[in-house]
Amino acid sequence: MRGFFVYYLKILWAFLVINESIASVTKLSPENVYKKILSLRSLPFEDCGSLYNVNYLNIESCSKVPCSMTRNSTVKVTVLFDDNGNGVSFLKHEVRWVFTYLKTKAAISPDPCDGDHNCILNVNESKSYWANIYVNPTLPVMRGSMLWEAKDENNKNLICFEVPVVITE
Ligand SMILES: *[C@@H]1O[C@H](CO)[C@@H](O)[C@H](O)[C@H]1NC(C)=O
Ligand SMILES: *[C@@H]1O[C@H](CO)[C@@H](O)[C@H](O)[C@H]1NC(C)=O
Repeated sequence: MRGFFVYYLKILWAFLVINESIASVTKLSPENVYKKILSLRSLPFEDCGSLYNVNYLNIESCSKVPCSMTRNSTVKVTVLFDDNGNGVSFLKHEVRWVFTYLKTKAAISPDPCDGDHNCILNVNESKSYWANIYVNPTLPVMRGSMLWEAKDENNKNLICFEVPVVITE
């Protein structure tokens, strides 16, 4: 009898837990579901102190890290972020290639992104920006990372992320 009661309690508990998880799934707004999907499609990156939440990172012709980047090529980078309704319309990029013994500034275009090039776009309730990064022919052929900072007019850091790369010939 007692065994049966414990069994019954277990079923009741399982039922409650399942109900709870269904409730938490259905509580997600379409916006949150969309962000969840975005984050699953994003390349993995390390956030290094973004003020605005970065939801998604895409690097042209890179589906997994480290991103292979060919010297003397131009690669398009796209980022989706929440500007918390602040109407961000200016971004000054400061991008560096980081290797074990070398840290060097990357050439980005357009920079700054000030709305003249359609480089900042509204995407649903969020913002996106794109920019091209030039893979300098003098970069060492080795693993490293790309450290991307985007700042506002007052040099305040809005976005910072780092992604592993490997430079190839
Ligand atoms: C905007 O969000 C909806 C879901 O809320 C999604 O289906 C749609 O693809 C999004 N639009 C863009 C341009 O990403
Ligand atoms: C870079 O590529 C261009 C063509 O896309 C070529 O003309 C140029 O010589 C290359 N530079 C180096 C340093 O390889």
